[in-house]
Amino acid sequence: MRAAYIDHYGKLDQIQFGDQPKPTIQSDEVLVKVHAVSINPLDLPMLEGEFKAVIPVQFPFILGNDLAGVVIKIGTSVHKFKVGDEVFAKTDEQGSFAEYTSLKETSVALRPKNISMTQAAALPLVALTAWQALVEIAQLKRGQKVLIHAGSGGVGSIAIQLAKHLGAYVATTASAKNADWLTDLGADLVIDYKKTNFTDIVSDYDVVFDTQGGDTLEQSLQVLKRGGIVVSIAGQPDKNMAEAINANWLMSKIIPLLSLPIRAKAKKTRRSLSLFVYAAKWRAVVPYC
Ligand SMILES: NC(=O)c1ccc[n+]([C@@H]2O[C@H](COP(=O)([O-])OP(=O)(O)OC[C@H]3O[C@@H](n4cnc5c(N)ncnc54)[C@H](OP(=O)(O)O)[C@@H]3O)[C@@H](O)[C@H]2O)c1
Repeated sequence: MRAAYIDHYGKLDQIQFGDQPKPTIQSDEVLVKVHAVSINPLDLPMLEGEFKAVIPVQFPFILGNDLAGVVIKIGTSVHKFKVGDEVFAKTDEQGSFAEYTSLKETSVALRPKNISMTQAAALPLVALTAWQALVEIAQLKRGQKVLIHAGSGGVGSIAIQLAKHLGAYVATTASAKNADWLTDLGADLVIDYKKTNFTDIVSDYDVVFDTQGGDTLEQSLQVLKRGGIVVSIAGQPDKNMAEAINANWLMSKIIPLLSLPIRAKAKKTRRSLSLFVYAAKWRAVVPYC
């Protein structure tokens, strides 16, 4: 099959477009013929080897995280899918930039009828990230106030819609040019981060979803009410990350040290902080529909 892959870490010019073996499947997997994929910021650090200490890959490594396609073969213990089903998914081991990919049954969801293959392929990684941050970690509730940084980004634009669906009051940071669009998505307050510091506008929030890291992450602690939580996907990793990637004993001790300074600040202000850099264990949280 044709695939976009790398033989070693490098820059964009290291990507090869060539033949790779068609994947075989285990009893709990499906084989999907890929119709559409999307490109995420995560693809670049994976290409460059930025995460190689914590997420080692085997070469040749096929890139890509998201896909939509058609099931063409199912394992003997697969019950939720049949050949011909149109599905979308965040990949497991093998990347999506290929003609075919194998996936655990539990990583796949049926494509909703009201979105195209291309639209479906744009959703899994950003939607799962937003779900993990707001639902699983922050446990955002109706009536709570959430600040979502970079609402116009792939993750942020989904997070706004999810937070509104959960019944929260939603503030977001973005460029002024995106304000109308984000209001249409459901944002109650759009803060132009280029002109205004969000700490001057919002306070006493239950949840901040940070996709920026650095100063934005640090300042986000200031706008939380006591007992509130910042969930960051752009900060340094903590012990949850070490657990998520099944880090060995040594790495499980080293990884949390990277986020020690910001965790100490959170502790001092008695606010909660949850950091994840890459959730290695994805589950299909989209209901089968
Ligand atoms: N940990 C994980 O599991 C995970 C998963 C997915 C993504 N990520 C990370 O999360 C980050 C965002 O991903 P994405 O896919 O949403 O990126 P994206 O689609 O490229 O979005 C970037 C957005 O950031 C906004 N922005 C830039 N500087 C900003 C600032 N100072 N304050 C507020 N907004 C600012 C821009 O908004 P304007 O155009 O309006 O200026 C732009 O829309 C990336 O670093 C990515 O690697 C992590």
